[in-house]
Amino acid sequence: MSVSNDLYPNASSPLERKDSGVPYVRQGLKVESYNDFDPLKHVIVGIADNQHIPEQCPASNEKIPADSPMRGGKAGRRTQETIDRANECLNGFAKILENRGIIVDRPGAVDWHQRVTTPDFTISSGFGCMPPRDCLLTMGKSILMAPMSFRSRYFEYLAYVDLLREYFESDPECLIEQAPRPRLSDDSFRMDYVAAYEFLSDEETMARSLRKEYSTKETDILFDAADVMRLGKDIFVQHGLTTNLAGIRWIKRKYEPQGYRVHTLSFEDNHPIHIDATFCPLRPGLMLLNPHRPLFKGQREIFEKNDWQIVEAVSPAWDNPPPLCYSSTWLSMNTLILDHKTVCVEATETGQMEQFDKLGFEVIPVDLRDAYAFGGGLHCATADVWREGTREDYFP
Ligand code: ARG
Repeated sequence: MSVSNDLYPNASSPLERKDSGVPYVRQGLKVESYNDFDPLKHVIVGIADNQHIPEQCPASNEKIPADSPMRGGKAGRRTQETIDRANECLNGFAKILENRGIIVDRPGAVDWHQRVTTPDFTISSGFGCMPPRDCLLTMGKSILMAPMSFRSRYFEYLAYVDLLREYFESDPECLIEQAPRPRLSDDSFRMDYVAAYEFLSDEETMARSLRKEYSTKETDILFDAADVMRLGKDIFVQHGLTTNLAGIRWIKRKYEPQGYRVHTLSFEDNHPIHIDATFCPLRPGLMLLNPHRPLFKGQREIFEKNDWQIVEAVSPAWDNPPPLCYSSTWLSMNTLILDHKTVCVEATETGQMEQFDKLGFEVIPVDLRDAYAFGGGLHCATADVWREGTREDYFP
């Protein structure tokens, strides 16, 4: 992977800082976060530069709804016009956060147009510096780079390595970690499922998903960070296409000795990938659930027993996702909570904004829809570095 600063006008410039050969130290920088709702102090916001639409890989088709234009054969560079517009949105979002005193970092410095080759597979390109939420899991004072389950995203962590190096040098308590790397060879996937996928109806994919059969097998340890929902001592992980049971076992074995409790969640969803447009914590005691994706039987209990309220999200404002978008219209509920009373919502999602208003939030509209195609909504487009607050026990 080659590196050039000219390629990344929107990247914060960790490369320049590295020129001296001495890692940059930022005074007062802190890495710590235990949930998605305590006061946000420092965050990473993705950039759209050089994003590539990768060719199909075994895990990718299953993610994409049957009517999406992204199914099959669209590989190639995104147009500069769409990249510029997405960056305009992402930069505007970053500015809104900065104006509220939140520190914002931007990733950068990998050429995604290059072929990705390992001893086990080859694919014509990488993906991009969006969305950071999929790749980075902040657990207390550590940041973990997730294994990732798409071949095109195998090297995505490189976009964050320079920033993470800075965090490591700047906060003496911060630990940077890497989960086991998967092979993602043809043995990692049910290749017969992959071949048949194109021809399955939504009913068939739903039936398969309810049986918990996905194109990803249990061969590798697999999870994307965005399948992990952090609620203080309790960590809820979605089992689905991008996270397998071995991945959840690994998360359990890694974090339970540190006093976390790890729970598995499943939803009635035919494309179960990334929990943050499905089940989202809003503040202590309050969850937002996608009404089209009910929790599996018995899985509401832990919330109800602990007096958490689960409200259903209102319908999205749009009937279709924007062109060349991988996600569903439910990015409407993919929001960034700044503290227990303040939430950033995509500016066209009027219904969702009203719902938050009624739930007692100050709502900050953010123009981001034209960045959706680059990997998701406001929550996806960010990754926590520091939120105030401690590791609470919400489910005693
Ligand atoms: N599966 C979700 C949907 O299409 C998209 C989630 C995107 N989240 C993310 N972190 N990239 O509804």
